Amino acid sequence: MTLESYSKKDITNAQDFLLRDQLDHLEEQVMQAAAEKDPTSKLKAILSEFESLLIASHHTSPRAMYGKARVLDLLAHEEESNALLEQAIQKYTDLLSLGPSVPDALFKKAGKKCSQLMEFRGWTAKAIQVQKVLAAKFQDSPDISNKLGLLYLLSGNNKAAREAFRSVLQTFPTNNYAQAHLGFIIKTEAAPGDEAALQEGVALLKAGLSSKDKEVLDGRFFLHLGDGLRRLGKPQEADLVFQDGAELNLFPSFWQRSLFNIGGLKAQPLWTLEETGIQHQLSTIVDNWQVIRDEATEILKDMDQPGFVRESENLADTGYWAQFELYRQGQKIGNNCLRTPLTCALVDSIPQISTNRRGQVKFSLMNGGTHAFAHAGPTNCRLRAHLGLSIPRSKAPSKTWSGLRVADKFVTWNEGEMFVFDDSFDHEVWNESDERIVLILDLWHPDLTQEQRDTLPAI
Ligand code: OGA
Ligand code: MN
Repeated sequence: MTLESYSKKDITNAQDFLLRDQLDHLEEQVMQAAAEKDPTSKLKAILSEFESLLIASHHTSPRAMYGKARVLDLLAHEEESNALLEQAIQKYTDLLSLGPSVPDALFKKAGKKCSQLMEFRGWTAKAIQVQKVLAAKFQDSPDISNKLGLLYLLSGNNKAAREAFRSVLQTFPTNNYAQAHLGFIIKTEAAPGDEAALQEGVALLKAGLSSKDKEVLDGRFFLHLGDGLRRLGKPQEADLVFQDGAELNLFPSFWQRSLFNIGGLKAQPLWTLEETGIQHQLSTIVDNWQVIRDEATEILKDMDQPGFVRESENLADTGYWAQFELYRQGQKIGNNCLRTPLTCALVDSIPQISTNRRGQVKFSLMNGGTHAFAHAGPTNCRLRAHLGLSIPRSKAPSKTWSGLRVADKFVTWNEGEMFVFDDSFDHEVWNESDERIVLILDLWHPDLTQEQRDTLPAI
């Protein structure tokens, strides 16, 4: 047999061709062991055989090195051992540094595995380095640069991520994965009012999602495409995207667009106080609305300390919208509560609110002429109460309506009154009167068990 007619010629150099029988045999054993239930002892035996082969080849057999790394990799997962994982990474790295004697196909396989394990180990920066080497060597493989872009994105380096995806699109202009990811970055980074960036982001997202390829079915892409279309004045097209996202189960329904969800919770846009199961506790808050309002207005008067913070998620379309946070993710904001002690004491007595790691408590202030773009909260695990504190009436009633739309329902604020809605549903807010202040309280969804309230990760 010649190397040319050998079935594994792609991963075999001249030296390994001489060892082919042993290598084939060992690789076959690895495959079999990997499919078994408890392969540990078998893997250990194969490992020592690869080691003998490596010694015999003066540690220069690429396939034996790959085999050893692969067995260490399997053992590491079997034994959940970081030490073994690091040994596997080291072996893959050794193989990659052998240089030109490693056949391309084997180099690619080893590089991919190596970078995967580094990522799994939490060594994102190292994974990026390996992926960069691969991307430079295999420019005809868009998947490699796409993976590099994703790693940059995960590590928060959006600028490098953009470049990686752009470079894919230069060679493969219709690559859906790169289109969707680049579009997502451009859309989410578009400065308020930067219509051109918004248009570019939306066009790329649209192109990327048109394939409905499994790897672009990410709820965030659909939400941002829909949001971008709305901001560009195309609400009907946006609704089609939201419809698609719901049909693909990327979020619970057309109206409910949260991404961190627990199944089976009652879902409706508006709730009565009674339906929350804590009507009595909420009534205590309502009964004290004037005390709460007075604490909020004191903050506004005090110019010497930091006060309300402007909304920073690019949700305010026009006007001014700001918040003063009292609780975040079930934790009191100590310094702020010192300034609103009565409000915080009231909240403290209601664990459904004070322990809500998936919500907040905050004062929210909106100037007249403010419009908040439609949006949806991140999770279906909370309900959101608004208590009206300072609600000026519009001076020009003919022109205006102030309030909140949630799904296809409308509510408005009144001083000393509370309503409860589910902010995982699409909602939008207008204030057409003067400066308005409400207290926002997030409560655990009443259908969640105590166990879930104790263990769900914070959002
Ligand atoms: C909300 C929201 C705007 C406001 O509570 O989720 O968007 O009125 N509110 O402060
Ligand atoms: Mn909101």
